[in-house]
Amino acid sequence: MPAHNRFLEGPFAPVTEEITAFGLPVTGSLPAELSGRYLRNGPNPLGLDDPNYHWFLGAGMVHGVRLRDGRAEWYRNRWVRSRAVAAQRDEKWQGGPVHENTDFAANTHIISHAGRTLATVEAGPLPYELSDELDTIGPCDFGGSLPGGFAAHTKLDHRTGELHAIAYFWAWDHVQHVVVDAAGKVIRTTGIPVTDGPMMHDFALTQSYVVLLDLPVTFSLNAVTEGKELPYVWNPSHQARVGLLPRDGSSSVRWIEIEPCWVFHCLNAYDDNGKVVVDLCLYSQSFDVSTLWSAHGPVTLDRWIIDPAGKVTQQRLDDRGQEFPRVDDRIISRPHRYGYSAVIGEVTRAITASGDFGDEAFTNAILRHDLAHGTVEAHEFGRDATAGEAVFAPAAPNSAEDDGYVMAFVHNPDRGAADLVILAAQDFTADPVARVHLPARIPLGFHGSWIPDH
Ligand SMILES: [Fe+2]
Repeated sequence: MPAHNRFLEGPFAPVTEEITAFGLPVTGSLPAELSGRYLRNGPNPLGLDDPNYHWFLGAGMVHGVRLRDGRAEWYRNRWVRSRAVAAQRDEKWQGGPVHENTDFAANTHIISHAGRTLATVEAGPLPYELSDELDTIGPCDFGGSLPGGFAAHTKLDHRTGELHAIAYFWAWDHVQHVVVDAAGKVIRTTGIPVTDGPMMHDFALTQSYVVLLDLPVTFSLNAVTEGKELPYVWNPSHQARVGLLPRDGSSSVRWIEIEPCWVFHCLNAYDDNGKVVVDLCLYSQSFDVSTLWSAHGPVTLDRWIIDPAGKVTQQRLDDRGQEFPRVDDRIISRPHRYGYSAVIGEVTRAITASGDFGDEAFTNAILRHDLAHGTVEAHEFGRDATAGEAVFAPAAPNSAEDDGYVMAFVHNPDRGAADLVILAAQDFTADPVARVHLPARIPLGFHGSWIPDH
């Protein structure tokens, strides 16, 4: 156990206030076609009094910026009001369904589906629905149609409107594939037997398959009694495997054994002449997430080509340390050409056993991968300008894959506060198109979405 907790310090340090600010100053010119909200979720504990604090367990706080007609109308940050968060703030909890007594202020992602804005988290709890202005409405079980908990990561098939998720829970002997229709009702669940209670943070979706990652990080009741912060540990006896579940539920999952590794995030996946291509950020050595500082860097961008006959071929796409991979959300489950990821030296330093980062001069950047040409561009932000996950916002609903903007919260060391930085995807290394200057610091966090008005 480190003498101090790095996830309560520096760029991770939680903020202590909820702020509402209108008419935000902008450097550059906000594209008039960007009308909507950029929202990002992340852990923000209400106090600093827990030396064993685990980054994955802080109460969720959503930061949002509202853009319209070339103006930045507002910034808000709001804690998700779980029962515990409401109690700590002397507020009345809104109430609602709770799965297996696992109410939690969802801290991992925020998405929009069927008119609902949902803060999501894995491992049992339900999502929390928020208002357009980030006030908590309450837990969401999709109108009573969801049996069990939900998931942090979901995959929306933009053409069908189907939202897919893989839910896991320590007390289950299976994980659950969940399909939510375009109207926001769960229309199918499929139980997939697993052993040891694996953590499944993310998965991948193609037109034919749901791709499951059953990797050797599994539930451990002993971990907690042994003083670890999270009850999921590296389990060398758990066989790593990749599963192909027919997306239409027509038959059972086909498992393919692989070498032990860890994956938090997939960039995207697609069918390719009978094979399945999955691009992902790979930790090729053991990673015990129960302590979070056991990773062996760097995490690389790799491609798995899965032959359903029983073979996975691995290619390295980029060997620099990166995480939070994203594609244009409209293309999920279909072939992508471009991908975006973040180089966050502070995160890499915080989670690696040695505390080292490969290249100290290259720690705050967003990468744009052109996977058709095998090229990468880096937009670097400079010293202390930590950048979070980058999200693509199309210029118009039907614009081409690369026709639009890439946005992220980036710390501005000169002001000691965050900027929402907006880059032109097709002129990626140029100066940002716009920087929206926010009135507060935003701690490094997890995932977000651009939610256009139309
Ligand atoms: Fe994630």
